[in-house]
Amino acid sequence: MKILVTGGLGFIGSHTVVELQNEGYEVVIIDDCSNSSEDVLDGIVAITGKKPLFEKLDLKEKDKVVDFFKRHHDIEGVIHFAASKAVGESVEKPLLYYENNIGTLVYILNELSKKAQANFIFSSSCTVYGQADELPITENAPVKTAESPYGNTKQMGEEIIADTCRVTKGLQAISLRYFNPMGAHPSVEIGELPKGVPQNLVPFITQTGIGLRKELSVFGDDYPTPDGTCIRDYIHVVDLAKAHVVALQRLLNRANESNYEVYNLGTGKGSSVLEVINSFEKVSGNKLNYKIVDRRQGDVISAYADTTKANNVLGWKAKSTLDEAMKSAWDWEQKIRN
Ligand SMILES: NC(=O)c1ccc[n+]([C@@H]2O[C@H](COP(=O)([O-])OP(=O)(O)OC[C@H]3O[C@@H](n4cnc5c(N)ncnc54)[C@H](O)[C@@H]3O)[C@@H](O)[C@H]2O)c1
Repeated sequence: MKILVTGGLGFIGSHTVVELQNEGYEVVIIDDCSNSSEDVLDGIVAITGKKPLFEKLDLKEKDKVVDFFKRHHDIEGVIHFAASKAVGESVEKPLLYYENNIGTLVYILNELSKKAQANFIFSSSCTVYGQADELPITENAPVKTAESPYGNTKQMGEEIIADTCRVTKGLQAISLRYFNPMGAHPSVEIGELPKGVPQNLVPFITQTGIGLRKELSVFGDDYPTPDGTCIRDYIHVVDLAKAHVVALQRLLNRANESNYEVYNLGTGKGSSVLEVINSFEKVSGNKLNYKIVDRRQGDVISAYADTTKANNVLGWKAKSTLDEAMKSAWDWEQKIRN
C-alpha cells in the first residue's frame, strides 16, 4: 500500500516513515527540504534497509501537487506533516505561515476530494487548547483563540478538514494533536535537526549541554506549579510516530466511527522545565548551565494530555519515559556534533 508522507524528511515525518516501512507500507515522501536535508534518507535506509521514494517538491506550487497526484493515482493514504512551525517567525511573517500551512493543505485536500476514497492524517497541536481550563486536557476542551499565526494555522487547518469531510463522502480524516515531541530514534540514525536557535526546550538543553549554546534561560519560576516552572507533556518521537501508523490503519480498515476524528497524542504526564533539566543532568551526567529569567509572553502555565481516547479507541499508548526520550535526544546531539 502506497502512503504519501509530506514533510517526511522532517523530525516527526522521518520517524513516521521508518514506522510505516517497518509495517510494510510503501512510502513516497514529498519534502522541499526547507527545514530538512536529503541526508535524512540515508538514516531511514540505515534503519529500515529500504529507500522510500522521494520527490523534492514545494507543496505551495499547486500545479506540481496536481501533477504529483496524477502520477501517483495509487496513493491510499496521506500523512501531512509539511508545514512551517516556528511560532515567533509566524508572528513576524503571518502570510508566509498562512500560505505554507493553509495553502498546501487546501491543495492536497482538493486532490483527495477527486478520489472515490481517500485517507488523510493531519499534524495538529495542543496549542489549539491554549491554557485549558481543566487538566489533563481532553479532546472536548474548547479550542481557545490562537496566540500566534502558527497556532491559528492548526485551528484553521482542523476546521478546513472538518468542513471538507462534511461534504466529501469518500474522504476520511484524523487530526492528531501532538503535545511536546522530543527525542530521536534509538539507532541514532535520525533525530531532530533544528535550524538556527532551537525553539523547543529539549534541543536547546542538549545544544547547551554540548557547548553550542552558553546557557539556557528558564522563563519564570513563579508560576502556580509545584516548582514554579511551566509544565508540558513530553512525548518520545518514536511513540508519536507509531500513533500515526495506528491512526492510518484505523482509516484504511474503515474502523473509524466518524469520517473526521481528533485525538490527543501525549503521555498524560506533565513535566516541569526543572524536571526536564534534571532528567538531562541524570542521563548525561553533566550539569546544565541555566538561569532563571522573567516570564515570557504567551507561555501557557501547564498543558498535559488526557490520553484516554487515544488509549481506548486507537489502542495506542506512549511507552517511553522522559528519561528514555532524553537519553535518545542526548545520544543524537552527541552524534551530530561529533
Ligand atoms: N515538533 C513539534 O513540537 C510539533 C508540535 C505540534 C505539531 N507539530 C507539527 O508537526 C508537523 C511536523 O513537525 P516537525 O517537528 O517534524 O517539523 P519539521 O520542520 O522537522 O518537518 C516539516 C517538514 O516539512 C517540510 N516542508 C515545509 N514546508 C514544505 C512545503 N511547502 N513543501 C514541501 N515540504 C515542506 C520541511 O522541509 C520539513 O522537512 C508540522 O506540521 C508541525 O506544525 C510539530
